[in-house]
Amino acid sequence: MTDQSIIKLLRDSAPCVSVGVLTANLLALGSELVLIERAGVQLAHIDVMDGCFCPMMTVGAPFIKALKTPLLKDVHLMIDEPLEKVAEYVAAGADIITIHPEACSHPHRVLQHLRSLTNANDPARGIVRGAALNPGTPLEVLEPLLDELEFILLLAVNPGWGGQKFIPATFKRIARTKQMIAGSGREILLGVDGGITKANIAEVARTGVDLIVTGSAVFDGKTPEENARFMLEAVSKGVRSQESGVRMGGQGSSE
Ligand code: DX5
Ligand code: ZN
Repeated sequence: MTDQSIIKLLRDSAPCVSVGVLTANLLALGSELVLIERAGVQLAHIDVMDGCFCPMMTVGAPFIKALKTPLLKDVHLMIDEPLEKVAEYVAAGADIITIHPEACSHPHRVLQHLRSLTNANDPARGIVRGAALNPGTPLEVLEPLLDELEFILLLAVNPGWGGQKFIPATFKRIARTKQMIAGSGREILLGVDGGITKANIAEVARTGVDLIVTGSAVFDGKTPEENARFMLEAVSKGVRSQESGVRMGGQGSSE
């Protein structure tokens, strides 16, 4: 594997679905993850909330370390001042680690620090460094960080809970962020997180994002494996319909 192998994997299979475990049965998460893995999902999105930056508290590094899974660990840190803490999450097996600039005094330094850390699963894999933005944060915050990240995650809900409603203004933010990425000359992946349901996942896939996080629509307490298959299929159908729209000269996008 080269240093860029996770990025390449994500790019090659974009748009990827990363399943949020917040509303899964956390006491049986190992077996819950087997279900989504069987459906063909490649990533588990783990929301870390500290009760400060985010109203709720969830899990920390020891929990993530205890998760034995072949799924890539996509760790979304919604915690204040992560500079001193990111190393614990990397040691716990994070493959993607996403911080919030809103929660950092020195977001650039946190990203630089992440570059110096080694993937605990496989040193050759590299770590994907992400910055997540809340719906109310101006996108310009990202500009000075573009040279020090591989991933941007736009939140389509305010952080705190699963099962919230997708904020429609996110579509415009996706389009503007794509322009910003194109202008940067860097290969930066774009993801969207929050409020993605069976009803809107195809539309979100058609915006051209690389990664889509979906949680409660999969872990609805009933049929996670079936739901995950539905989401993967809806994503590829959404992309295929866009491609045929483009071939036929249509817009094929909701931007
Ligand atoms: C919001 C979290 C999201 C959320 C996704 O604070 O970052 O990852 O749990 O869950 P759903 O898909 O239920 O909105
Ligand atoms: Zn998240």
